[in-house]
Amino acid sequence: MSIKRYSVAVAGATGAVGNEMISILEEREFPVTEIKLLASDRSEGKKLEFGGKDITVTKTDSNSFNGIDIALFSAGADRSKEFASLAVKAGAIVIDNSSAFRMAPEVPLVVPEVNPHAIARHKGIIANPNCSTIQMVVALKPIHDAVRIKRIVVSTYQSVSGTGKEAIEELSQETRDIFNCREVKCQVYPHQIAFNCLPQIDTFEENRYTKEEMKMVNETRKILEDDTIAITATAVRVPVFYGHSESVNIETEKKLTADEARELLSNASGVKVVDNIDALEYPLAVKAASKDEVFVGRIREDESIEKGLNLWIVSDNIRKGAALNAIQIAEILIGV
Ligand code: A2P
Repeated sequence: MSIKRYSVAVAGATGAVGNEMISILEEREFPVTEIKLLASDRSEGKKLEFGGKDITVTKTDSNSFNGIDIALFSAGADRSKEFASLAVKAGAIVIDNSSAFRMAPEVPLVVPEVNPHAIARHKGIIANPNCSTIQMVVALKPIHDAVRIKRIVVSTYQSVSGTGKEAIEELSQETRDIFNCREVKCQVYPHQIAFNCLPQIDTFEENRYTKEEMKMVNETRKILEDDTIAITATAVRVPVFYGHSESVNIETEKKLTADEARELLSNASGVKVVDNIDALEYPLAVKAASKDEVFVGRIREDESIEKGLNLWIVSDNIRKGAALNAIQIAEILIGV
């Protein structure tokens, strides 16, 4: 029996996430008949490889999605707002990596290890959550199911690849400029990112939190389908190329010891526990880069409260935090 194949479009194909989507479609042998690689007019005519062939990048326009079955979007929220509904009208199912539709009640916000059932109620668009949220909920879902999480306090240490390819270049360039005693020019970030930490990701909201911090609060509640969890976040950009790290403190309704948490997480889908302090082993961004798993370590009981835990959660933000999660959603859609 021949398997059904799909025509797939990648909007934002030349970007950090778009590029990874192309690699992961290949790696996981997603059944593709035709692939359309879309970007801005700046990239028109550029060639990218897929399946051993050079595919020409074309400009995204209102006709780009004719004949497409699955459209993977990672070209920023403005492009999603402009083109996603056109793609749906043309008959495609859109998996959108931007923040454009994540909190829309009719749009499922999905992490396959956590709420795959939500996919079934889509009306053409499925949203991929924010990278920091994805890795946190993959690790917290089994704990929430076992002992109910009452409160989460999270601080992130996020890599520059989350901002996109220009930010990767900015960190490289600033590093070279500093080593060569040249003046540092900040274009993507408001301050020097090399050898620095920026307690600002995205813009500030009225409550003095950043959009990124509020995404973690609101998206976590939507994905875990529990509006009662208290969550507070501080999101920090650090001079790391790939991999987001998070210090996560949770308070639970029932007691879970560190040993029990380690055991629970060892059996959790998509999670790898790395927690051998005698061997100085704990999750590291440089080791998580290019891997699929969410790595969890430094699992300790919070000794300042009766029922609480501290965890260190690390994952490749471009893979599980974005491209891989989107393609896992596509795999569920097509039933593989
Ligand atoms: P391009 O490379 O032509 O600018 P990143 O998140 O890594 O910065 O990548 C953003 C992606 O979104 C790139 O593929 C980029 O294409 C694409 N993009 C940016 N602006 C537009 C636009 N106006 N129309 C279509 N694609 C766009």
